[in-house]
Amino acid sequence: MTGNRSEEFIESAYPFMKLMMQYQCAMLEVRTKFEVLNTELSLDSDRNPIESISCRIKKPISIAEKLKRKGLEVSLQSIEENLHDVAGIRIVCFFPKDIYKLAEKICSQDDIHLLEKKDYIENPKPNGYRSLHLILVVPVFFANEKKWMPVEVQFRTIAMDFWASIEHKVKYKKNIDDSTAEIVEKLKECAEGIHSLDMRMQEISEYIDSKR
Ligand code: GTP
Ligand code: MG
Repeated sequence: MTGNRSEEFIESAYPFMKLMMQYQCAMLEVRTKFEVLNTELSLDSDRNPIESISCRIKKPISIAEKLKRKGLEVSLQSIEENLHDVAGIRIVCFFPKDIYKLAEKICSQDDIHLLEKKDYIENPKPNGYRSLHLILVVPVFFANEKKWMPVEVQFRTIAMDFWASIEHKVKYKKNIDDSTAEIVEKLKECAEGIHSLDMRMQEISEYIDSKR
């Protein structure tokens, strides 16, 4: 690429890179809020409610594919208007009650707006998928502006996360064909087993806590 061409290329990529940087910052803000809650809540109960936090920014190819799939224009404006999951955080907790406690605490913070809530723990998907999904909108202070940015947060227990990672692999493996119906059924059974395991482990943990 000649000097001029590469300058042009960088110039044209800049607005997209800037928007992704802004999502990255929003994700950092929300991640920190959960780290603060995790640290504070562990003082009273002697255990951390959060097992792990992972973050990701949606890849450009996935952004473009999602907009096209929805019949929407592929542009920066369209990303901002239509996609709420460019910045994504996954919070893996030990017990279901930790999920609801964290969700309640984050939503009660006065700089957080709750845009959407999907409770797939109360209402699992037909395939057995369980998680609590929130779209939070947070103010981010940049050098020259304050901008409200959406961040998708998925809350799962360790067991729900285990299930979702296996189910995700099955979904995206192209050559599972004849056995698909059987696997789907088995996964559904496992999802129910995992749910009852989560509830029983929570009961045991509550019993232990009551003896402290
Ligand atoms: P989008 O327009 O893609 O946001 O559709 P939606 O809002 O109906 O999706 P939803 O909020 O239900 O799910 C968004 C994300 O949750 C997905 O990108 C996955 O990460 C996760 N997810 C949802 N359903 C499943 C599922 O059945 N299995 C697994 N493994 N993950 C799921
Ligand atoms: Mg969604």
